[in-house]
Amino acid sequence: MNLILLGPPGAGKGTQAKIIEQERGLVQLSTGDMLRAAVAAGTEIGKKAKAVMEAGELVSDDIVIGIISDRIDEPDVQGGFILDGFPRTVAQAEALDKLLAEKGKKLDLVIEMKVEDEPLIKRITGRFTCAKCGEGYHDEFKKPAVEGVCDKCGGTEFKRRADDNEETVRSRLEAYHAQTAPLVDYYAGKGILKSVDGMAPIDEVTNQIRAVLDSV
Ligand code: AP5
Ligand code: MG
Ligand code: ZN
Repeated sequence: MNLILLGPPGAGKGTQAKIIEQERGLVQLSTGDMLRAAVAAGTEIGKKAKAVMEAGELVSDDIVIGIISDRIDEPDVQGGFILDGFPRTVAQAEALDKLLAEKGKKLDLVIEMKVEDEPLIKRITGRFTCAKCGEGYHDEFKKPAVEGVCDKCGGTEFKRRADDNEETVRSRLEAYHAQTAPLVDYYAGKGILKSVDGMAPIDEVTNQIRAVLDSV
């Protein structure tokens, strides 16, 4: 199965994608993670993306479409994927349709995570991840069982994203409403859109997503 998790910054796309990945054997494809890796490695793409990401704006369609097109060809994603953070513009959605058709693949489902803007600021400014394994946490909503120690790998170093400050989050939310929200209608029109309540606690959102996956 190939699906998209659609929602604004802090909706919980990454959190839920990692859970479904483990449960269903699908592969999470996060353009945000791929771009951050490119920035960290100092590649040409990373150099172009760094300032744009720190401003909370969208990286050019050509760059992200290129990244996704290459990634979808790799052997590990042939059993199905979860797109997280892509597509983010109608042009990206149209390019995705075209490239999947060319590769003989299709999109089965788009899950919209419905959330309100204001609580997202708190989710994002409280977010941190394990520097060793990448497990995601939150100062209030998802603390490690033992403070300062990763539940998953025992790592003791954590990091925060350069774009996780209130000012940048507000720009990211603006970009979402202006450029990404139209995708809700785009996929509803194709009859493959389902919605879940992203304001519920993390494990309840997971249950709703499981129910949607089981229904298709
Ligand atoms: P990207 O990395 O995709 O960031 P984003 O869309 O802003 O989304 P986030 O990763 O911030 O949120 P999330 O929904 O994954 O939330 P999470 O699960 O972590 O993109 C970053 C940048 O890269 C963009 O701004 C852009 O510049 C560029 N970019 C990326 N893709 C692009 C594209 N296709 N085109 C152009 N540019 C692109 O949860 C957040 C926190 O809340 C966590 O701490 C979590 O523990 C907590 N939490 C999660 N769910 C709940 C819940 N139900 N209740 C309480 N807390 C919760
Ligand atoms: Mg994310
Ligand atoms: Zn860890």
